[in-house]
Amino acid sequence: MSTFYITTAIDYANGSPHLGHAYEKVLADVIARSRRLCGTQVHFLTGLDEHGQKVQMSAQKLGIEPQQFVDGIAAEFQQMCKTLEITNDDYIRTTQPRHVKVVRELLQTLFDKGDIYRADYNGYYSTRQEQFVLEKEKVNGQWPEIYGEVTPITEPGYFFKLSQYQNWLISHIKANPDFIFPRFRQKQVLEFLKEPLNDLSISRPRERLSWGIALPFDENFVTYVWFDALTNYYSAVKDSGLWPADFHIIGKDILVPPHAIYWPIMLHAAGLPLPKALLVHGFWTMSGDKMSKSAGNTIKPLDIAQQYGVDAFRYFLIREMNVGQDSDFSLELFLARYNSELANDLGNLVSRLLNMGGRYAGGIVPAVAIEEAPEQALKSLWDIVVPELIPACEKFQFHLGLEKINTFIRGINRYAETRAPWKLAKSEDPEDRARLDTSLAFMAEGLRLAATALVHVMPSISAQILQLLGQPPVTQWAGELEWTPKRVKGGTLAEKAILFPRPQTEK
Ligand code: MSP
Repeated sequence: MSTFYITTAIDYANGSPHLGHAYEKVLADVIARSRRLCGTQVHFLTGLDEHGQKVQMSAQKLGIEPQQFVDGIAAEFQQMCKTLEITNDDYIRTTQPRHVKVVRELLQTLFDKGDIYRADYNGYYSTRQEQFVLEKEKVNGQWPEIYGEVTPITEPGYFFKLSQYQNWLISHIKANPDFIFPRFRQKQVLEFLKEPLNDLSISRPRERLSWGIALPFDENFVTYVWFDALTNYYSAVKDSGLWPADFHIIGKDILVPPHAIYWPIMLHAAGLPLPKALLVHGFWTMSGDKMSKSAGNTIKPLDIAQQYGVDAFRYFLIREMNVGQDSDFSLELFLARYNSELANDLGNLVSRLLNMGGRYAGGIVPAVAIEEAPEQALKSLWDIVVPELIPACEKFQFHLGLEKINTFIRGINRYAETRAPWKLAKSEDPEDRARLDTSLAFMAEGLRLAATALVHVMPSISAQILQLLGQPPVTQWAGELEWTPKRVKGGTLAEKAILFPRPQTEK
């Protein structure tokens, strides 16, 4: 069986994890889990981008070695992955020997081919962005603020011949319309490619930047960020034969030029296959502002996850964001979904079932005893919802999948209201006893299906619900998403559970 290989961007090791980092991991994890549930073998890579000027400077400020500094940051990022239930199979750090070796080999190959050459560079350099900047980027005679201090500079260095591959890249993108998802991003790339590409400066003199991978053909220089960072996707799997990747999951800020221009050209020039596709997600903003460390408005994702539960946090990220678009994050928006879709619709339903099951059926899920219009209606609702679920995953429309599941959960609540087991329990009519048993069986089966359908997004909550129903956890979707009340029949219901406690701050 072929392996579905997905990656996230590797995070910069110059600060603590923030919401953007958390989101990308959760999105990749939801993709990885949904593919595994469909029976595909998955290899999921994430990691840390540890070299560069900023890291070197941060370590210097603290008076420690860069390696010690990045070790601390790596521990923080890896802990975040663990907390967020990320099922990555590997974690690559660009200071690892396995990575350094492959970067050097790649550089040597391209140098030997003549695609990397030495030249003098005259220009301007932004320390904050660790990049050369062009005069034409000035706005009203000033450098844009994102560049920080910009200084004129002349220095020898090494360049990669991007320009000679420009036409090849344009044809590749045009011939592979699925290379960039969503489609509208492809236009942006082609637009960028209308201008002639400059060759890429790939080195920094060691005296200015020591914290990097030395060029194998000139040890006085180290590689500049992108040549080092992008290669992680390949270096991590070179020996396991998993290259090429099926999807690189990245944010929109690093599509053009790094992932859409540099990376394909680097690979092509080295005679390596290209990744099959790039999945480009949008940005989380806070009240419309781009989140950034300097703006001081970063939400500590783990604080929210800790306070309201990791699965609720994952649910919110996936429910709220239409992959590819931007989304706003606020505690109000989080709480709105938490209270209505999780605590009310799902959590209350579970509590009600456990409560009524204990009261009216001795805590054992009864068999279906009658089927009338309300039962037909609930089954039909599932029949409408279920065919949409896996296609939504395949098209990365996870938010729509969750919307459908929520519609179904609300349908189960409506069914419970219509059947009103608490009224049926008071009746002497044997048919009402059959209706009562059936209503408990239908609620239990509905919840089994909902928990099964939610498992890629809320793995712990799903397992917990199934356990409360006396069911085993889900390991695959095949055969598990069919309406089969006899599966839940005879299951021992737990006494009670509060899945989504009401937050203290709620008004
Ligand atoms: N180190 C580079 C990537 C190298 S990949 C070969 C980098 N690191 S980063 O830490 O700045 O960003 C890591 C990922 O997080 C990127 O895909 C970026 O788009 C994403 N996000 C950073 N802020 C974000 C939001 N506010 N919202 C969503 N994702 C964002 O770039």
